[in-house]
Amino acid sequence: MSTINKTIIISNRLPVKITEENGEYQLSTSEGGLATGLGSVYKEGNNIWIGWPGIEVPDERKPEVIKKLAAHNLIPVFLTAEEINFYYEGFSNEILWPVFHYLVTYAKFDEVYWGFYRSVNEKFRDTLLDNLNTGDTIWVHDYQLLLLPCLIRFEQPDVTIGFFQHIPFPSFEIFRLIPWREQLIEGMLGADLLGFHTFDDARHFLSAASRLSSSNLSDNVLVYKNRQIVVEAFPMGIDSDKFEELTRNEKVAKYVTSFKASLKNLKTILTIDRLDYSKGILQRLQTFELLLEKHPEYIGKLALYMVVVPSRDTVPKYKELKDQIDQVVGNINARFRTINWVPIHYFYRSFSIEFLSAIYSTADICLVTPMRDGMNLVSKEYVASRTNEDGVLILSEMAGASKELNDALIVNPNNIVDTMETIIKAINMPLEEQITRMKSMRAIVRKFNVHRWVKNFMDKLSEVKSKQESLLTK
Ligand code: G6P
Repeated sequence: MSTINKTIIISNRLPVKITEENGEYQLSTSEGGLATGLGSVYKEGNNIWIGWPGIEVPDERKPEVIKKLAAHNLIPVFLTAEEINFYYEGFSNEILWPVFHYLVTYAKFDEVYWGFYRSVNEKFRDTLLDNLNTGDTIWVHDYQLLLLPCLIRFEQPDVTIGFFQHIPFPSFEIFRLIPWREQLIEGMLGADLLGFHTFDDARHFLSAASRLSSSNLSDNVLVYKNRQIVVEAFPMGIDSDKFEELTRNEKVAKYVTSFKASLKNLKTILTIDRLDYSKGILQRLQTFELLLEKHPEYIGKLALYMVVVPSRDTVPKYKELKDQIDQVVGNINARFRTINWVPIHYFYRSFSIEFLSAIYSTADICLVTPMRDGMNLVSKEYVASRTNEDGVLILSEMAGASKELNDALIVNPNNIVDTMETIIKAINMPLEEQITRMKSMRAIVRKFNVHRWVKNFMDKLSEVKSKQESLLTK
């Protein structure tokens, strides 16, 4: 391994996943904003990304996978079926995910999950240590690896560690319900810099950390075990240039033409989410049903394009949600459809980036109404794709993005009457108002793009580290 300093990104998932087709392993892009967001970093110089390739790989085929991934600067952490079950589906997605999204009743506080969460975090640490050289910078991502910063710090007291959480951090009264709350906070405090999408998330973390550890709270700096740790908001952006360029792509243009032809004069509302109860898909369907019921004048004039990307469908709550969505969509379509019109066009699958770009640039309205969301990059992707500067974004105030995209129509998704009225306002919004709002949102999305997010975080991390070093030498 070369001794030139590098950045090591480490997250539960690699930015690509391995899938098996007729016995052959194939690489494809992972779902989720993280993979897209950090694509630009790990491909540079001798940087690497460590994570799970998304599939259980038998021992005899591990060398083949290692080689395939190495060609892309990627290093796998292999997980057994049990680890996937208890650490990923269990602790990460049946405890941390629901609690951090304020759905405490969905959490299953299981000791077995905790044991696996700890041991898998140790497994990630071991792979990291095998690839670490003096002077390297480590950037740990997300809730699946909350113990990792402290585990690394124990082995390498002076190493530079940044941590970024992509999902919300709940208020202390919610967080304290987790039986292993102290250990989670201590795990995170192994980092030198902790980043969150919003100021509120950072504040919630600071509040939990100051109550549950021996850290001293002073503004956004914690002192823990003689180290100064900084906690700050870094709202994540997207690669806005990529989305703009896509609109000029030939394949996208073909999709747009056929999409427009099939739509005729219908006003289109677009929603795109991973299958997840935090995304408010059922509440949104309820809102749409109310609209058709209270405003029959829109029957035959409006179409909801609803893309749900399959995700975590081995976790019971996700399976249940899928069944409920299928049922509700079926009911609404059966209740309101006419011979030549269907209200909801529902897709349960992933689409190519070109197809997504085409629907982003064609849809009159994008409806992004999560119950709770760390940031929500779909809202930003819609804005970046509106090169004609028209279109209306309706955005939940519970999404981190609502703190930046003030010119969206902001709604509380629990208020279905208000959300319905906002949809009607969006349908009837004059073009000039659409353009004024979209222009201002586009400027924000372009300026605070993913490259700036990475730079801001990395610059701050080296600043924090050099401050720590200067304090030590005083
Ligand atoms: C969110 C999380 C990511 C996660 C992604 C996809 O964006 O913040 O950490 O990778 O969802 O979820 P999955 O469970 O499929 O990795």
